[in-house]
Amino acid sequence: MSGLFITIEGTDGAGKSTQIELLRQYLSGRGYKVICTREPGGTPIGEKIREIIIDRNNSEMTDMTEALLYAASRAQHVSEVILPALREGDVVISDRFVDSSVVYQGFARSMGERLIKNINKHAVGELEPDITFLLKLKPEQGLARKKEQAELDRLEAEKFSFHQRVYDGYVRLSKRCKGRIKVIDASEDIQEIHSKIKEGINALIEKNSI
Ligand code: TMP
Repeated sequence: MSGLFITIEGTDGAGKSTQIELLRQYLSGRGYKVICTREPGGTPIGEKIREIIIDRNNSEMTDMTEALLYAASRAQHVSEVILPALREGDVVISDRFVDSSVVYQGFARSMGERLIKNINKHAVGELEPDITFLLKLKPEQGLARKKEQAELDRLEAEKFSFHQRVYDGYVRLSKRCKGRIKVIDASEDIQEIHSKIKEGINALIEKNSI
């Protein structure tokens, strides 16, 4: 596979969309074909699954249903968008990937990392991001930003303790995957965060001669 697979992770309200757009502009300017996509979603089928997942009326959804729906959206996303783009040698920037399921469903919903990874094996096979940027922001700060923007969705409307577990889960995961996951303080200035992401990407491009 000759392309570059970049994922952006973080607690809700950490500013992923802003950074993805800045990174897209930067890499396009360097001549790469860049595909920006997201999970859950990223395909017509995935976007329909997303609506079901985040709908606040679906309060009776079980944890297992939720985990399988994220994986179903991901399976479609991988085969319809991510793998074809990487095969073409393009850059794919995905707003969330398997790490989100490990942290939200595995850790915060207490389903366990092993189960979540097993489920997701069926969706992604051997595919792993080349690099992941974790925008780290304390849950109280992220939620305050979200509340200013719009009505909260089903996940965002979870209790504070859930968001704290998500935050702790990301910290735990990032310590274990130091090579792949680059942690960035998302409370910093937008341009400062962008510079750090660029640094990480440039180092990777140089190392892999992409
Ligand atoms: P977003 O708001 O970042 O687009 O993500 C939608 C919500 O779904 C967000 O609260 C994080 C959550 N999520 C999971 O719980 N598991 C997953 O696998 C993914 C991709 C997202």
